[in-house]
Amino acid sequence: MDRIRIVGGHRLNGSIPISGAKNATLPLMIASLLTDETLVLENVPRLADVALLQRILGNHGVDVMIGGKRPGDTEYEGQTVHISAKRIVDTMAPYELVAKMRASFWVIAPLVARMGEARVSLPGGCAIGTRPVDLLVMALQQLGAEIEIDRGYVVARAPKGLKGGKIVFPKVTVGGTHTALMAATLADGDTVIENAACEPEVGDLADCLNKMGAKITGAGTPTINVTGVRRLSGARHRVLPDRIETGTYAMAVTMTGGDVLLEGARPELLQAALDVLAETGAEISSTNAGVRVARNGSGLAPVEVTTQPFPGFPTDLQAQLMALMTLAAGTSRITETIFENRFMHVQELARLGAQIRLEGETASIEGVPRLNGAPVMATDLRASVSLVIAALAAEGETVVNRVYHLDRGFERLEGKLAACGAEIERLAHA
Ligand code: EPU
Repeated sequence: MDRIRIVGGHRLNGSIPISGAKNATLPLMIASLLTDETLVLENVPRLADVALLQRILGNHGVDVMIGGKRPGDTEYEGQTVHISAKRIVDTMAPYELVAKMRASFWVIAPLVARMGEARVSLPGGCAIGTRPVDLLVMALQQLGAEIEIDRGYVVARAPKGLKGGKIVFPKVTVGGTHTALMAATLADGDTVIENAACEPEVGDLADCLNKMGAKITGAGTPTINVTGVRRLSGARHRVLPDRIETGTYAMAVTMTGGDVLLEGARPELLQAALDVLAETGAEISSTNAGVRVARNGSGLAPVEVTTQPFPGFPTDLQAQLMALMTLAAGTSRITETIFENRFMHVQELARLGAQIRLEGETASIEGVPRLNGAPVMATDLRASVSLVIAALAAEGETVVNRVYHLDRGFERLEGKLAACGAEIERLAHA
């Protein structure tokens, strides 16, 4: 397995191109199952999760064609992917594939909406909590699907098609909202989704579905209305920039010091996180080209932050903020309200010398004057990248093991950081 070696202590200066968002790309690719025409997605990041979803869709009979390079493309240009679910040959998503990536469970919605049946394994995914799918199942039931759990599989049936209905989520769920949206587009009649997730990736999915002929209003607010249509068509859609990648690099620069332009980043997608960074002492400015983050000289101020659904501070940046706060001048408090077990990075940050105390869902981080490099390993994507950030500021060498977690969600991580002056390299497995 590959490892990443980092020698800390270098400031980051230059520019980092922001890739298309992983968490928008995945539901957009899945939405291709709703139509027999071709969906063209631009700005698709080169990530292990995207490749895995390609395999999962292939299993249903979906053809995925990745466009070649065009004149003038830089090495960071996202891919253009043509996805065609002309004929769905199998409505079953097997355990071996779904267990590797939780989001693949979402195929259940377009499959049952278009084909009247789906058999999808209960999911796996990152080890960040129990992460049930009860609310996704409830949403499908509200649209008339009959659900049965059979030997680890969720079987959804709607032989006469789904029917519009009212879905009230008792808790904000991104995957639940994606599922409800996709299913409702082909249902007969009107659907109202209450307490919907407002994450930008939901808005991106709704925009794409509308280009495919869906009738969706209110995406990005807690109440979404969908009027079902008989069929959807192909479309062309550009994936929005990755707000979590943006926030991650913004935190890296704040931690090491320096001055970096995050090219193509959209500040409104992560305003809460940028506000927190400004509080810590970073200088944040927005230009037409993206978001500029700088910190020169000044110390880091501690902060108190609670993760929340959008537009609050995202759980997917919690680990990275914790890494940053290990060097603050004082005690920070970070409360995680979305996933009950998303603190796997705490013990690994401690290996670098961080002082963190956990009490229930709150971590108290007492800033230390310096971190020291060490071998570390993480069990999920965002935790892994928090270790990279910490290593960039630590004295000496850190080796991050289990790099496959990083490859799931960060495109060319070491190339982007090295171009800004970081001493970082991938050690290929011998
Ligand atoms: N929940 C339930 N029942 C359900 C569904 C969710 O109780 O049926 C709970 C979850 O256990 C959690 C909360 O609701 O406590 C929110 O979960 P949500 O459904 O919003 O999460 P998700 O859709 O599974 C997506 C992202 C995550 C991100 C969360 C929250 C993708 C592919 N994944 O997951 O991203 O943390 O929303 O914003 O979009 C990551 O990229 O590293 C990642 C984990």
